[in-house]
Amino acid sequence: MQTTIVTAKTVSTSTDIALSARSVSAWYGAKQAIRGVSLDFIKNSITAIMGPSGCGKTTFLRCLNRIHESALTARTSGEVLLDGVNIYDPEVNPVVTRRRIGMVFQRPNPFPTMSILENVIAGPRYTGMTKDPRELREIAEDALRRAAVYDEVADKLNSPALALSGGQQQRLCIARALALQPDVLLMDEPTSALDPLSTLKIEELMERLAADVTVIIVTHNLQQAARISHYTGFMLGDENRVGSVVEFGPTERIFTHPKDSRTEDYITGRFG
Ligand SMILES: Nc1ncnc2c1ncn2[C@@H]1O[C@H](COP(=O)(O)OP(=O)(O)OP(=O)(O)O)[C@@H](O)[C@H]1O
Ligand SMILES: [Mg+2]
Repeated sequence: MQTTIVTAKTVSTSTDIALSARSVSAWYGAKQAIRGVSLDFIKNSITAIMGPSGCGKTTFLRCLNRIHESALTARTSGEVLLDGVNIYDPEVNPVVTRRRIGMVFQRPNPFPTMSILENVIAGPRYTGMTKDPRELREIAEDALRRAAVYDEVADKLNSPALALSGGQQQRLCIARALALQPDVLLMDEPTSALDPLSTLKIEELMERLAADVTVIIVTHNLQQAARISHYTGFMLGDENRVGSVVEFGPTERIFTHPKDSRTEDYITGRFG
């Protein structure tokens, strides 16, 4: 079955680059997962990364904020420039990098023993943004509002985070990332475990976030990529299952006039 995919976004007018991947390759032990990925992410835009399972989308995302290296035997080469500075430079503190480049995972993963409020203030508190309880509370409320979950949790901020629904937990995790005031937000299939209404809420909030955050989202949902992103990258594994970027460009063009036949095959559902 072929579905019509409607793209909603025009290319943003900004050409400032927030984050730039230069020839990024990554390995797990001897097994190479991605090769030579070079992509520029435009400030305040939403970029979708799509591609079949196993082509290295998650691995690439994890290279963008140095979380990849926390996996045993993991290795990376290439450069990732955040505002022009290579985050892999030995002088750059990975903790600061991860604060500026936040991440939201496929499954909501709130800190299980903490309350809703504690989940959001944990980051600002432990990274030393402030110790003042009133300020921390303000940061948390602001982040919860930006993550479009405040109204649903305002009267139970001290309840356990795990008492929330899956969709609420995911928005809490988005709030937790936003509380650190990141420049870039990486989202790995953030709605794949959610119902359609929660998905819609997260899509709407992503669009609002892009006003001041650069959003990079991995998704298997082509309609979602078409609906919410300004730019789309298509990744594919080669015969050795090493992933690389086949095509990248404005979402509208990728979905209407893909240049590579493999991109076309993927978006028309012929494989993947
Ligand atoms: N922790 C790990 N240790 C060893 N190999 C891994 C690890 N994580 C991923 N891989 C391998 O790296 C390759 C890329 O995996 P990755 O998770 O990045 O793919 P993906 O495109 O995100 O897939 P999916 O769409 O299923 O999430 C796969 O071959 C996978 O088996
Ligand atoms: Mg993945």
